[in-house]
Amino acid sequence: MTRKAFVIGHPIAHSRSPLIHGTWLAEHGIDGRYDAIDVAPEALSGFFERLRSGEFAGGNVTIPHKEAVFALCDSVDPLATTIGAVNTLIVERGKVHGTNTDYLGFLGNLDAGAPGWSDGLETAIVLGAGGASRAVLVALQSRGIGSIILLNRTRATADRLAAELPGNISVAELDAFNDIAPAAGLVVNTTSIGMHGSRFDGINLGLLRPDALVTDIVYVPLETPLLADARALGLRTVDGLGMLLHQAVPGFEAWFGIRPSVNTALQARIEATLEH
Ligand code: ATR
Repeated sequence: MTRKAFVIGHPIAHSRSPLIHGTWLAEHGIDGRYDAIDVAPEALSGFFERLRSGEFAGGNVTIPHKEAVFALCDSVDPLATTIGAVNTLIVERGKVHGTNTDYLGFLGNLDAGAPGWSDGLETAIVLGAGGASRAVLVALQSRGIGSIILLNRTRATADRLAAELPGNISVAELDAFNDIAPAAGLVVNTTSIGMHGSRFDGINLGLLRPDALVTDIVYVPLETPLLADARALGLRTVDGLGMLLHQAVPGFEAWFGIRPSVNTALQARIEATLEH
C-alpha cells in the first residue's frame, strides 16, 4: 500500500517540503507520496479525524497550525512542549503523536557544516527571542553548552523566554554584543534581520575569536550580510538552508522507514527555488 504523508498549512503553496520529501522518495524508490494540503484553521479538527482513520503515516505542520495542533494530538513530545510548537505528526494505530524536529534540524545542520562545533564550547550568543529562537536555545541546552547569552532588541521578551527555559541562559540587549563577543565561540542569528539583505547595526564580528562559528537561520538570501561579513573576516560560517533540510530527516524516517541523507544534490535543488 502506498504510504502517504503531508504538510498542512494555510496558505501552503510555497512550502518546499514536497520537493524535499519527493526527492527522497524518488531517490529510495519508495512507494509513497508527500503532498501539500491546504487546511484552514476551522478545518483542522476535521483533518485530525481523517488522520485517526489511518489514511496517512503522518506529516508536517506549518503556519498557522504549529500551536493549535497541541490540543488535537493524542500525545506530544516533551521537547515540543518546551519549544511551544509541533511541526511533525506521526500516526500510529489511530493515535496522533506530535513532535518538533526544528531543534534536531539546527543541530544536524551544524554537525554537517562544522563537525565538532559543540566540543568544549563554553559560550554561545543567540540573537533574537522569537519563535525560532526557542528551538535553537533548546538545541544548545541539549548539547550542554556552558553559557548561552540571549541578546534581543526588546529585553523583556528575552527575559520571559529565558525564564521558560531554566538553566544557563543569561539575557542582555543587542548592543551588549561587542562586550561579550571575545568570549563567544558561536553566534546564532534567529532574528529576521538578514532577510532581503538587511544588516545588524553596531555588531562588530571582528571582536570574535578567530575560531568562532557564525550561523544564521535566515536562508533568503543564502548568504546573509552577517554570514558574508563573518566569511570576509575568515570566521567559520554555516548557512540556514541546512536547518530546513535536516529538520525534514526525522519525519521522513518515521513515515517511510528509511533515514534519508542531506546531500549536495538536494541542497542544489532547493537552492534553485529560493527567490533572491
Ligand atoms: P520568529 O517566530 O520567526 O522567530 P518573531 O517571533 O517575529 O519571529 O521574532 C522575531 C525576532 O527578530 C525577535 O527577536 C525580534 O526582536 P523583538 O523581540 O525586539 O521584536 C527580532 N527582530 C525583528 N526585526 C528586528 C530588527 N529590525 N532589529 C532587531 N531585532 C529584530
